[in-house]
Amino acid sequence: MSRLVIVSNRVTVPEPGHPPPPGGLAVAVHAALKSRPGLWFGWSGKIDDGPAVEPQTVERDNVTYVVTDLSTGDYNEYYTGFANRVLWPILHYRVDLAEFNRSDLGGYLRVNALFADHLAKLLKPDDVIWVHDYHLMPLARELRSRGFNNPIGFFLHIPCPPADLLFTIPKQEQTIGALSHYDLVGFQTENDRNNYGRYLAMSGGHQGRDGTSYAVDGRVVRIGAFPVGIETADLAAVAAETVDSGFTRELRDSLQGRKLVVGVDRLDYSKGIVHRVEGYRHFLEHEANWRNRVTYLQVTPKSRSEIPEYGDMSDDVNRLVSEVNGQFGEAAWTPIRYINRSYPREALAGVFRIAAAALVTPLRDGMNLVAKEYVASQDPADPGVLLLSQFAGAAAELDAALIVNPHETEGMAQALRTALEMPLDERQARFASMFERISRQDIDRWAETFLAKLSETRRSFLIGQ
Ligand code: G6P
Repeated sequence: MSRLVIVSNRVTVPEPGHPPPPGGLAVAVHAALKSRPGLWFGWSGKIDDGPAVEPQTVERDNVTYVVTDLSTGDYNEYYTGFANRVLWPILHYRVDLAEFNRSDLGGYLRVNALFADHLAKLLKPDDVIWVHDYHLMPLARELRSRGFNNPIGFFLHIPCPPADLLFTIPKQEQTIGALSHYDLVGFQTENDRNNYGRYLAMSGGHQGRDGTSYAVDGRVVRIGAFPVGIETADLAAVAAETVDSGFTRELRDSLQGRKLVVGVDRLDYSKGIVHRVEGYRHFLEHEANWRNRVTYLQVTPKSRSEIPEYGDMSDDVNRLVSEVNGQFGEAAWTPIRYINRSYPREALAGVFRIAAAALVTPLRDGMNLVAKEYVASQDPADPGVLLLSQFAGAAAELDAALIVNPHETEGMAQALRTALEMPLDERQARFASMFERISRQDIDRWAETFLAKLSETRRSFLIGQ
């Protein structure tokens, strides 16, 4: 079996004997590496301005991690500047929040070249290379220019907006356009894939007869939808166990019989936390009989705090949460428990299991694995209800959720009431349909499908079809 070389921006090496850190991309990559010989290369998460040193190699549970530090300049320009203040907002349909300058783009391209230099020393001729996410769009071009002819695939974990928005990315041909140097580019949904196909066509690419490949400047790139999944069976088992843990019991006792509503998101403007809290406020305002009978727990680890747009939204959420608690709270009841920290996957599975409803209402999201994790964690005999934004990639699969528009406050409030009052048989039917789907399309299936397509794509290109 060829070695799988995964490349992503952030690589968190798990502590010995500990599970991988939570987070969509990290969980997905670990699953891909579980059953194959592999190496994972990326940024250590550390900044070091000392003399350049070679990347560090760490072996853990049959995976070789190779990590490199970034300099302050690289971090500011590549990660904070271009990846997170241009690509992230625009790909999440927020051109209004994008802040572009040329030195950031220069840093982005420089770090991609640096990654290619490091990889050049690690790669073997029969390695299969799989690059993840928006930080590393030009990497295949860099590797090809260094003479590597290996199969190289790319997966975009975040949304791909319509072509008109992609064209707003300054120098788009060097970033989103450079994806055409990959053999296979994977997206979360058909909609994302179609948006990219249209972008390629508008940039002069020619669609192949099969409809999934494009000829661009003499190269051929195939594009496809590969909705990312979770470790469904494993998480269901973990949730069934943790429901009796001290942590879950303490939380359940603290509710004093009230129903629990849960939200779990990085503190990011794409997650629609302000809109969600507005929806909850509307619910408490108009459903007086639910006051003091429900507690909303919002778990929100801080993220990218040095970026002004993140600081601004953090202030907005703080203000709104305290307003709602001030308006409706009582001596013995806090309507919203708002927590800026992360919990391990096991603890969250327990929280999900005892929550009567989950609010997964991003304004835009590539997939949103919290939606799938919430479903996987339910007790089939008494499942909770998922409220899911129509703008999360997961909505294309989890159509048995209560689908909501996060921009419509009243609609969200109404859906929350529907969820909390939903009869058992309806909850069970919705759960069964979603659980079946996420069991079938789990994380192993995702990795297998993508990698099979990548090797098939490569073979057909080599024999000139
Ligand atoms: C999203 C992105 C990932 C990223 C993660 C955490 O899920 O798709 O690529 O790693 O957020 O963000 P951070 O900037 O902290 O790595």
